[in-house]
Amino acid sequence: MRLLPDSPLLLCVVLVFTAIPSEQDSSGVLGTSQSQAGGSNALPAAGCPRSCGNLTFDYPFGIGSNCSRSPAFSLTCDSTTQTPRLYFEDDSITEVVAYGSTWLQISLSQAIPIMHGGVVSTYNMSWKSSGSGFTLFYANLNITGCDFDIYQLQDRHASSVKLCTVTCPDAGITDKVARQNCNGTGCCSVNLDVLEAFQLQFVLRSHGRARLGTHTSRSSLWDSINVTSTDAEILWSIVDQPTCASAMDDSANYACVSNHSNCYDGLGGRLDLGYICRCDGGYRGNPYVPNGCSRDKGYNPKEQKENCQRSCGNISVPFPFGLEEGCFARRLFQLNCTNTASSSLQFDDEHQVTRIHINEGLVDIKYTPLYEQEMFRVYVSNEPGLYIGSGESSSVQWAVANLTCHEAMQNKSGYACVSISSTCLGVNSTDDYIGYRCKCLHGFQGNPYIHNGCQALPINGESTKKQNLLLGIVIGLSSGIGILLLGLCATVLLRKWKRDIKKQQRKKYFQKNKGLLLEQLISSDENASEKTKIFTLEDLEKATNNFDPTRIIGHGGHGMVYKGILSDQRVVAIKRSKNIEEGEISQFINEVAILSQINHRNIVKLFGCCLETEVPLLVYDFISNGSLFEILHSSSSSGFSLSWDDCLRIAAEAAGALYYLHSAASVSIFHRDVKSSNILLDSNYTAKVSDFGASRLVPIDQTHVVTNIQGTFGYLDPEYYHTGQLNDKSDVYSFGVVLVELLLRREPIITSETGSKQNLSNYFLWEMKTRPTKEIVATQVCEEATEEEINSIASLAEMCLRLNSGERPTMKQVEMNLQLLRTKRSNSCHVVQDNAEEIQPLLCTGAESRYETFSITLGGSSNAESQYSQRFNSLEHDFKSSLGTPH
Ligand SMILES: *[C@@H]1O[C@H](CO)[C@@H](O)[C@H](O)[C@H]1NC(C)=O
Ligand SMILES: *[C@@H]1O[C@H](CO)[C@@H](O)[C@H](O)[C@H]1NC(C)=O
Ligand SMILES: *[C@@H]1O[C@H](CO)[C@@H](O)[C@H](O)[C@H]1NC(C)=O
Ligand SMILES: *[C@@H]1O[C@H](CO)[C@@H](O)[C@H](O)[C@H]1NC(C)=O
Ligand SMILES: *[C@@H]1O[C@H](CO)[C@@H](O)[C@H](O)[C@H]1NC(C)=O
Ligand SMILES: *[C@@H]1O[C@H](CO)[C@@H](O)[C@H](O)[C@H]1NC(C)=O
Ligand SMILES: *[C@@H]1O[C@H](CO)[C@@H](O)[C@H](O)[C@H]1NC(C)=O
Ligand SMILES: *[C@@H]1O[C@H](CO)[C@@H](O)[C@H](O)[C@H]1NC(C)=O
Ligand SMILES: *[C@@H]1O[C@H](CO)[C@@H](O)[C@H](O)[C@H]1NC(C)=O
Repeated sequence: MRLLPDSPLLLCVVLVFTAIPSEQDSSGVLGTSQSQAGGSNALPAAGCPRSCGNLTFDYPFGIGSNCSRSPAFSLTCDSTTQTPRLYFEDDSITEVVAYGSTWLQISLSQAIPIMHGGVVSTYNMSWKSSGSGFTLFYANLNITGCDFDIYQLQDRHASSVKLCTVTCPDAGITDKVARQNCNGTGCCSVNLDVLEAFQLQFVLRSHGRARLGTHTSRSSLWDSINVTSTDAEILWSIVDQPTCASAMDDSANYACVSNHSNCYDGLGGRLDLGYICRCDGGYRGNPYVPNGCSRDKGYNPKEQKENCQRSCGNISVPFPFGLEEGCFARRLFQLNCTNTASSSLQFDDEHQVTRIHINEGLVDIKYTPLYEQEMFRVYVSNEPGLYIGSGESSSVQWAVANLTCHEAMQNKSGYACVSISSTCLGVNSTDDYIGYRCKCLHGFQGNPYIHNGCQALPINGESTKKQNLLLGIVIGLSSGIGILLLGLCATVLLRKWKRDIKKQQRKKYFQKNKGLLLEQLISSDENASEKTKIFTLEDLEKATNNFDPTRIIGHGGHGMVYKGILSDQRVVAIKRSKNIEEGEISQFINEVAILSQINHRNIVKLFGCCLETEVPLLVYDFISNGSLFEILHSSSSSGFSLSWDDCLRIAAEAAGALYYLHSAASVSIFHRDVKSSNILLDSNYTAKVSDFGASRLVPIDQTHVVTNIQGTFGYLDPEYYHTGQLNDKSDVYSFGVVLVELLLRREPIITSETGSKQNLSNYFLWEMKTRPTKEIVATQVCEEATEEEINSIASLAEMCLRLNSGERPTMKQVEMNLQLLRTKRSNSCHVVQDNAEEIQPLLCTGAESRYETFSITLGGSSNAESQYSQRFNSLEHDFKSSLGTPH
């Protein structure tokens, strides 16, 4: 039982694609390059450089001949500068600044000198990716100079779009100042996304005439146009074959050569954008070289440096944690002492460590002032996620390596439990094995991670305890009253102070979140004011028992969902998105205002929001029966599945809701994230579309880029991917994938017999060409649906999945088509029933009786479901107890 699904799909995809590791034992990699599994597969020659300055990278990239997979992956290291810099070969514009397993953080910079004298009035800059497997995912450019317009050439340079105008600043303004403000005077900012190439044109506005003037003290802005990126990222994949399936056939060139590596279709899905490889099943490393995938080798039990600083103010920092390079056992355990005086020990931007319990495997954390965060996550590139903790918990568990104790002990040189009298034990999260940690044996205490760290507990502990107690009583009695008074005073003051700070912070967030704007929007619409509510943080804290972690009913790429009970006993889902960018807040608020006015039976109702947190919290109706995804894809074990009638009805309802959003609502709203896990089912199994607009709210930052795209992997409109232009037809495409899911009863990403991952839509379209649709669809569908129905839905899906959005039907046409089918079906049904009720009840009457089976099976059986029902029961319990004790 859950709602607002940050779907299992999303979760699973997040797990699959986050930070595909590149950590590895490089000597192993270089040494094995002769054993060229797969014959003529181009593998790196021995001795290829794997770093430039302190930036490391890995095959398929390489420097020099025979070191990279193909020229597109060829890099050069410019060591003439003070710190060596890594560039794409033959491309002095594109510097690689960070390397990831499917992405590269790049920096673009080009200076274009202006020729004075008014001869040339148009200057150009073009950029092209190094090969077809490379896509510029986004680039934010700051362009400095003076007195010109910036255009972007489009459609193979047939047309151009004006991006901005740069005017001349006062003479005193330096390049640096202009670039920092970048407000149109001497500089302007340009954002580009999802491109293989771009071309910019700079057209001087005064055709160079003004430049001849007598500016004696003019700044260098007059002399050149400088283009620099502030943030840019490239995604890459292997494109010598279009898909995993064909890549595996071409074994001589198949890139996923390591054991324990697996192939995934590239990001473009049907654009045939190749494939990527990754290590699977608890293995990490480089899948592109033989034996590149290995178990976690990131822990180094030896301190490299002597006299390491072991405290930050009054917080002690024992090994395996450390502050300086060489003082910690792995990157993940590096902490940052930002202020010794105030003992500020930074975990990451958002969390501070207050205490490390070395023997208990716990770290106490608190939120850094100004940050309020719901999930504990530490992102360190190339490191596994070895910290677990969630909700508002203040203690975080950690493990030292993602290995079992058995595995860890086999490699003595990397084994963490080096103290005598220490032992190894496993660390589990609620649903996964995280890794191992060490512990002093019973009767010992101390640090198991250093030699002789575990010391025997003193045997006379008992008597010292008594002495201490006695002493305590004496001191306590003598100074008790004074201290009590002082303490009370301090507590009261401290509380008040904390309250004030919190209040101020809330007010700040409220302002930032344009609470007033929303109030305005709502008060201008009388209908809305009675429906939408701006909740206070207190309301929601009460509703969720202070955001109790046990109230979390879903989390994923988009954020976290809590269940809650409002004071008026309404059961709600409270959704907390990840950070929204400043500029997007008003757009977001606008959307909230619009959505709050929508009252459609197939759209999850938005009750209101809370603007007192950094990121607005949204309060939705609680939908009890989970998502279509769960019911379609987790039902095999319970033996139940939706009837064909239900499927048709749910599809039509969802299509109707999307059509309504596209056209019937006062402003058209694109859903942007249509998928079966966003189609929820209420207690009558009526479809409720949820999570609209959410995908836009997901920030595009480095750690999430891949997840973002992959989050909708399987449903992503390839045209949107290619052009970055989102429109109503993108929803139609994604809905097409849902139709295919309903027909085939398979998840949007499937594993083929050969073990490769493939988009269901690709598979479907391909199979449609080669055999009758009847043979592809799920057995149950084949049994319940008529051949005509199957063919209609299949061809509808096929049209929705057209590459060219212009060829796709509108949502209205899709809905009408589905309604027509339903009408036809119920008519034929009546005919059957009227004429031969006792002979052939199978075709339709099954639907009713099946509802009963459905609710029974949902109550128990499959693991996931019983978990949900447990949660639901506890919710009911909460609900009842809150009824019983009014407060
Ligand atoms: C290594 O990188 C750090 C920043 O992460 C930089 O400060 C340092 O100068 C670099 N060292 C070299 C040798 O490039
Ligand atoms: C690169 O490989 C080719 C063919 O395998 C070989 O002939 C050539 O000598 C190699 N070049 C270098 C610099 O190793
Ligand atoms: C830029 O391109 C335009 C047309 O594409 C051309 O007329 C102009 O001379 C070019 N400018 C330079 C500096 O090459
Ligand atoms: C532009 O780049 C050139 C060459 O790198 C540099 O000398 C100049 O100072 C830069 N100008 C600005 C405005 O950044
Ligand atoms: C824009 O930036 C320039 C400096 O680059 C500054 O002088 C000017 O005041 C800024 N204008 C605004 C409106 O902020
Ligand atoms: C780029 O421009 C933005 C404003 O659009 C500014 O906030 C930022 O500081 C600039 N970046 C750099 C590196 O100057
Ligand atoms: C640790 O390895 C196991 C396999 O032994 C894997 O299932 C799990 O996801 C891994 N956990 C992390 C945090 O990498
Ligand atoms: C440590 O924190 C300071 C200040 O927040 C920051 O500038 C620095 O980059 C951090 N260092 C590391 C290694 O995280
Ligand atoms: C972790 O889970 C495994 C089974 O998944 C269990 O055998 C083991 O005892 C658990 N370890 C701890 C420390 O709870």
